[in-house]
Amino acid sequence: MVDRKIALITGASSGMGLAASIALLRAKYYVVMLCRDSSRGEAARQQAIKESGQSQAEVLLCDLASLDSIRNSASLFKERHTHLDVLINNAGVVSTKRHTTVDGFERMIGVNHLGHFLLTNLLLEKLQAAKQGRIITVSSGAHKVGDIHFPDPHLTNHFGLIKGYAQSKLANILFTNTLAVLLADTNVTANSLHPGAVSTSLGVNRTTGFGKGIHSLLRPFFQSPAKGADTAIYLATDPHMSAISGAYFYKRQIASTSKRAQDRNLADSLWKWSKEEVGLE
Ligand SMILES: NC(=O)c1ccc[n+]([C@@H]2O[C@H](COP(=O)([O-])OP(=O)(O)OC[C@H]3O[C@@H](n4cnc5c(N)ncnc54)[C@H](OP(=O)(O)O)[C@@H]3O)[C@@H](O)[C@H]2O)c1
Repeated sequence: MVDRKIALITGASSGMGLAASIALLRAKYYVVMLCRDSSRGEAARQQAIKESGQSQAEVLLCDLASLDSIRNSASLFKERHTHLDVLINNAGVVSTKRHTTVDGFERMIGVNHLGHFLLTNLLLEKLQAAKQGRIITVSSGAHKVGDIHFPDPHLTNHFGLIKGYAQSKLANILFTNTLAVLLADTNVTANSLHPGAVSTSLGVNRTTGFGKGIHSLLRPFFQSPAKGADTAIYLATDPHMSAISGAYFYKRQIASTSKRAQDRNLADSLWKWSKEEVGLE
């Protein structure tokens, strides 16, 4: 049995997810690194152990582009652990072309929102079993140009990179806000954040490497992954954050969101639609 606080971080194989894993290991958390690829996951775990000097980390294999995989991984987590103190919904994808997940969802809304929606709901009882559970979802300032494109959130008709990415990042905030309302009388908080512009592998094709060049060019102007993960770590660990829920943060401060991100009707419609899409009762 683990006697430390437990944190689960999605997309822990690279970028801010890996940086957050290292920071939480240093803060003496037991870290569950959710990764979709076993060899990349194990390499990331070894790097996190080396850089933090702490060995309390495991890889939890999960492809957020598959509802079956999410259900299996959540079951495994529940068998292994009694509680979950911190869930950081960090994994994200950007696609130049329209791709679909195993379940036929447009990939950005599928991975960035629906995957995390299901994972979070399946882990809620473990978050409530913690002394004070925290759900932190990594959104983006890109949400400000986003809308939820009912009746076609999977963008079967008019796909666009910015349209799809901004929709998924707006969904991250609307989801967080509904969670905060539903969890108001519990020991669990839910907040979202914008990490700023960070030099990572976001948008780089993992097979062909396409997109790496653009990242190298922009690197001098962007923050490091460790700096980018700072607000998530603050929300996860700071004692003052135990009573704040339903807020959106940038640089450790509550920041303003778009009007759409504050729309309760839109949030309710998204919640209802998401439940149906992932098959939750
Ligand atoms: N970088 C920025 O400037 C910026 C700005 C605003 C918001 N954000 C947000 O920050 C978050 C972290 O992104 P990052 O910049 O650190 O990018 P990154 O280095 O590309 O990391 C993304 C992570 O998500 C994982 N992932 C992708 N698809 C997955 C799937 N189907 N199942 C499980 N994991 C999956 C990746 O795993 P693999 O290694 O296996 O691909 C990787 O670990 C994202 O939510 C992004 O939208 C980033």
